[in-house]
Amino acid sequence: MSIHTPDIKRVTTHVIQEMKTRGEKISCLTAYDYSMAGIVDAAGVELILVGDSASNVMAGHETTLPITIDQMIYHAASVVRAVKRALVVVDLPFGSYQGNSREALNSAIRIMKESGAHAVKLEGGLEIRDSITRILSAGVPVMGHLGLTPQSIYKFGTYTVRAKQEAEAQKLLEDARMLEEVGCFSVVLEKIPSSLTKQVSESIQIPTVGIGAGPHADGQILVLHDLLGINKEFKPRFLRRYADLNGVMTDAISNYIKDVKAKSFPNEKESY
Ligand code: KIV
Repeated sequence: MSIHTPDIKRVTTHVIQEMKTRGEKISCLTAYDYSMAGIVDAAGVELILVGDSASNVMAGHETTLPITIDQMIYHAASVVRAVKRALVVVDLPFGSYQGNSREALNSAIRIMKESGAHAVKLEGGLEIRDSITRILSAGVPVMGHLGLTPQSIYKFGTYTVRAKQEAEAQKLLEDARMLEEVGCFSVVLEKIPSSLTKQVSESIQIPTVGIGAGPHADGQILVLHDLLGINKEFKPRFLRRYADLNGVMTDAISNYIKDVKAKSFPNEKESY
């Protein structure tokens, strides 16, 4: 039996690049498990990120720092099993690439081999240039991530908008140019001023993907659980909720509890 589905044209890094070239926006979302990834892929997003936000969303940690490479591989492999079309990108978790480039390469190879994903994402600019080039030299596509980089939260001290000051904006622009120059296929811009996103997106040929970065990025990404309204507490200005799944799920579960208590579930037809 073939595992290929010839009727579905897979999204590759080249497809993402072509989309920028012809001015078509790129839709991206996170996913961390088989069931959700199948829905997200069938709905038609071009890129699925197995983000280290799994640390918050799936495991309830306050930050993205605790998630391990084994846990990322578990999430990524589950997503890959469901996805027929989208490009699947996986975050290298905190501590798996900053030490040295050999360690970074080993981490990227583990993720690619053990999950079947198509690319990796790393947070940072010039500081991790060696790690990025070494991973790229092994033929692994790399997505950059600049602006608010949650793995550095204890350095920033807050999740507020980044690069509002000229010096930080200039460094971000230089980092974005460097990521393009070494061969990254795309770069995430998180929580930066809209005008800076425009400047970066116009200065580099590779696609930018924004989150809290305004309308000028070449694509947009959101955390799936935020878009679906599963977590009621998280309400940043940049988030648009497309559903109230928290409400829908709570109602469904309450109705189930009522039916069990009232002995109306299961009924005759639902029994053997
Ligand atoms: O981990 C993640 O979900 C991310 C996105 C917010 C870009 O890095």
